[in-house]
Amino acid sequence: MTVTMTINGEDHVVDIAGPESLLTVLRNDLGLPGTKDACEQGECGSCTVEFDGQAVCSCLIMAADADGARITTVEGIGTEGALHPFQEAMLAEGGVQCGFCTPGIIVAGVHLLEENPKPSEIEIREALSGNICRCTGYGAILRAFETLPGDGV
Ligand code: FES
Ligand code: FES
Repeated sequence: MTVTMTINGEDHVVDIAGPESLLTVLRNDLGLPGTKDACEQGECGSCTVEFDGQAVCSCLIMAADADGARITTVEGIGTEGALHPFQEAMLAEGGVQCGFCTPGIIVAGVHLLEENPKPSEIEIREALSGNICRCTGYGAILRAFETLPGDGV
């Protein structure tokens, strides 16, 4: 079947061969490897994307169910020369170590900030509860949020 999705503001028409996840299609068919593939069971959050206004695990969404969806991946957040303030803050505070969790945390974090520009620590922890980081202990990630001005970034 053919599926039409708007990804990072661009329309894509994709032929779906079978029971593929959105994660697989993003990475293998659309050349968007920023969305990471780890557990494929909805446990780690490395594959987080924004899907019709919700932060979701793309490994749990069938690509066939994404017809008409508006999706933002990490490639759609900031640019190499103009990072999103949360990306800048993550770098400045050392919230990135091995980096494997980072795209999912960036997508989930930016989604949170869009809804709540100055989240409390508990709101941040709740929003990132599905994003596992093995390296940082989360302290640097929390500090990255704290450094943001809270004026709608
Ligand atoms: S790869 Fe999707 S939650 Fe782990
Ligand atoms: S920085 Fe390595 S898993 Fe988070």
